[in-house]
Amino acid sequence: MIPIPNSGAQTVLGLETSCDETAAAVVRRAADGTVEVLSSVIASQIAQHAPFGGVVPEIAARAHVETIDAVARKALTDAGVGLSELTGVAATAGPGLVGGVMVGLSFGKAVALARGLPLVAVNHLEGHAVSARLAARVDYPFLLLLVSGGHCQLLAVEGVGACRRLGSTIDDAAGEAFDKIAKTLGLPYPGGPALETLAESGDADRFELPRMLLGRKDLAFSFSGLKTAAARIAEGLTTNAERADLAAAVQAAIAAQLAERSDRAMAAYATDHGGRPLSFVVAGGVAANRAVRARLEAAAQARGFSFTAPPLAYCTDNAAMIALVGAERLALGISDPLDAPARPRWPLDEAAASADPTHVPGRKGAKA
Ligand code: KG4
Ligand code: ZN
Repeated sequence: MIPIPNSGAQTVLGLETSCDETAAAVVRRAADGTVEVLSSVIASQIAQHAPFGGVVPEIAARAHVETIDAVARKALTDAGVGLSELTGVAATAGPGLVGGVMVGLSFGKAVALARGLPLVAVNHLEGHAVSARLAARVDYPFLLLLVSGGHCQLLAVEGVGACRRLGSTIDDAAGEAFDKIAKTLGLPYPGGPALETLAESGDADRFELPRMLLGRKDLAFSFSGLKTAAARIAEGLTTNAERADLAAAVQAAIAAQLAERSDRAMAAYATDHGGRPLSFVVAGGVAANRAVRARLEAAAQARGFSFTAPPLAYCTDNAAMIALVGAERLALGISDPLDAPARPRWPLDEAAASADPTHVPGRKGAKA
């Protein structure tokens, strides 16, 4: 398909159904690139999955089917935008739980077909990559740390859809480590935010945890050793104060590893992008963690990088980020055919992923 640039204003309906949130949003991108989120609706399925301690794919898919219609309708109503004012539809097409992805993607295709609108089949990770641009001016290129429940990677984002992977986890993702360790501490799902709350009253220095990969020369991450060590300590704990201390130590260890790897990446990136403004962005659910943000901000400052993290509402899964990917692509004349497939696996940097298949995310199901 030959892209037809359409740099005029875009008003895009975004749909996100790749995991346990049914989300829809309307985003307007002006011709000068200014972004306005007109609405962002998120229906969480946490209550439905909580009894099982994690996301159950069949329950997720069914809940998306039951909710997508009302969520999309509310997004349009909240935005004060009718279907006739839309210039395009953007739906997550992967990676994620394929039953859920198919719900949002099929819904998006139906709207696009019925209204004669272009469709953008969005990579969920590209959504996280642009999420900081929803609320702040962040120009391309930038260095990105993407830390979510299924992913932990450093990427050089050179432009729309142009991501180069610099390093990723060799076992678990950072959010997955938070969730699993939270479970061993007896915290409810989702574990990351619960662990952060528990850590508030804890002393991070009480327990010593392994500093994984510290000093290693590449940009890989690893959290499995930390997980095992924390589980062993958790078994012997009896008081809430001790559990809070362990939570604080775990959070500090994860934040330290993320900051140490990011620091190394910034050093290399600054050499490659000499003379240009240096910008470091963190995105994904784990970017909601205040200790992580603080460590990363300090690391960026020390290297002379500007630091941007999305507002909390745009760190975790949402459809505004999906709509923005759609708007940016449509402005460049890029859209997808109505038979675009749902893709359970879809690396952002496909060349790097196929050249180095050992760097697979730890969670093989949900988001890998
Ligand atoms: O980006 P996201 O909503 O979904 C994925 O694409 O994976 O990220 C969810 C992940 C979960 O692992 C969750 O525990 C983690 O982000 N998370 C946090 C916090 N909020 C969400 N981890 C640590 N501290 C938080 N405050
Ligand atoms: Zn996500």
